[in-house]
Amino acid sequence: MNRLPALLAILVLALSLSPAFATFETRAERKARILAPTSNFARPEQFELFQGGAGTNRTRLDENAFSLPSANLSFEERSDFFIGNGVFDRPWVPAPSSTIGSDGLGPLFNARSCQGCHIKDGRGHPPSAGDVNIVSMLFALSDTEGGPDPVFGHQFQDQAIVGFHSEGRIDVSYDEVPFAYPDGTAVTLRRPTYKTQAALAEDVSLNPRIAPQMIGLGLIDAISEEDIEARADPYDLDGDGISGRVSMADGRVGRFGWKAQAPSLLAQTVAAFSNDMGLSTVLASAPWGDCTEAQPTCRNARHGNETDGVEIADDLLDLVTFYSSHLAVPARRDVDDPKVLRGKELFYQAQCTACHTPKFATSAYASEPLRNQLIWPYSDLLLHDLGPGLADQNPSGDISGAEWRTPPLWGIGMTEAVSDHTFFLHDGRARSLEEAILWHGGEAETSRDAFATFPADDRAALLRFLSSL
Ligand code: HEC
Ligand code: HEC
Repeated sequence: MNRLPALLAILVLALSLSPAFATFETRAERKARILAPTSNFARPEQFELFQGGAGTNRTRLDENAFSLPSANLSFEERSDFFIGNGVFDRPWVPAPSSTIGSDGLGPLFNARSCQGCHIKDGRGHPPSAGDVNIVSMLFALSDTEGGPDPVFGHQFQDQAIVGFHSEGRIDVSYDEVPFAYPDGTAVTLRRPTYKTQAALAEDVSLNPRIAPQMIGLGLIDAISEEDIEARADPYDLDGDGISGRVSMADGRVGRFGWKAQAPSLLAQTVAAFSNDMGLSTVLASAPWGDCTEAQPTCRNARHGNETDGVEIADDLLDLVTFYSSHLAVPARRDVDDPKVLRGKELFYQAQCTACHTPKFATSAYASEPLRNQLIWPYSDLLLHDLGPGLADQNPSGDISGAEWRTPPLWGIGMTEAVSDHTFFLHDGRARSLEEAILWHGGEAETSRDAFATFPADDRAALLRFLSSL
């Protein structure tokens, strides 16, 4: 029932991209026309409702809104999706165990399952005051050169299996930061501070990372590298104050993670098994994962069977990656509400679209359910300097502390329904969409100021638009 309009939408897109449709326009010109920013805010744009293309979820716009398979999967693909879902939810246990196929956890880890952090396939949250363990968030470690801690490695693991010591715990506290709108309205933001008793090297910083939502990731993967590169302007030659740059990882365009450091979902999944759960795969750089030379008990612990040191077989890796690629993006709500349309206009007016690119068309060479889709991620997937307020103390690899990937905004309005909270940004410091906007600095400062200068009604309309995504 719900698939029909979605299929129609995609059919029309495919047709309108095909040269036979009209003779006076080339395919490239047609694509540019479809993707051009709108200037008509009186009514919704064509297909805007289907923000995740033909796979858009129109059936469950509730607490399960992020957990559905793309609506355009075949019967076989749906079955792989659900097997992958089982791997994603599976709680791993230490080896050896009688639950063969679910063991190998640790020795050091952050969580027992993928789902333990990507809760309900939604975003994670920072700990509340007094929480003993940190769930759904982790801390990357880096020195002033962007390299790892000599003892604790690339990531801080605050849990360990029985018989091993975890790396310690991290305490989070917040300072209040007042913000006053030009019209006199006052709000309070909060700035986090992280402390640990663990003996990190002196110049090493704790870099907080909230687990992101899992929707639409295969579609993001299906955007061609050229289309991402085309939006980059590293030297700000067009002089608009915004200079996005491409993150390169292993010779490919990085697009996943808060710093766009991962070039593919497979790479991110391998890293998650290895660093977050202490589970080895054929593709991991070493079976001992993030255990360093300075941690011999961890290095020498059992890592998979004697012959290949692999704890996650390739077929499981493929299934969970398939799952991660095909979680549907929920449909927009209230696209034709006048207040939402007004908010959309203001979103364009404040130049939010300079980074939060509304539309892309996915590559014609992607797999069938993902190819030739008109999608609305509201991200350019580029790195931008958002200023010192949001910056990590140290770089990560060659990405500076202040640079962040523009996060996709699709589905953001469903966060409260799915996750029961509204904590945003890479460290979850923002308690609302409004606070998230007010933290924008650096390249986004002019945009933030434009928002702040809007009358209160207009600010509310812009937030209303974000809630409809
Ligand atoms: C300890 C918590 C934790 C666990 C467990 C975990 N993740 Fe993540 N995941 C994160 C965090 C945090 C990020 C962001 C990392 C970054 O930006 O450096 C992330 C990022 C991702 C991304 C990229 C999303 C995006 O929008 O760019 C994918 C895909 C992903 N994880 C899949 C998985 C899979 C599959 C598993 C299980 C094998 C898993 N994760 C286990 C916390 C976790
Ligand atoms: C210069 C590029 C740029 C501009 C302009 C920009 N943003 Fe962002 N936006 C980002 C980046 C990068 C982040 C991630 C920052 C972080 O997590 O620390 C972000 C984060 C967000 C988030 C939180 C997303 C999440 O998943 O937690 C929201 C909401 C948002 N922006 C809305 C806006 C709005 C509204 C505007 C216009 C007033 C705007 N942005 C302008 C780059 C930009």
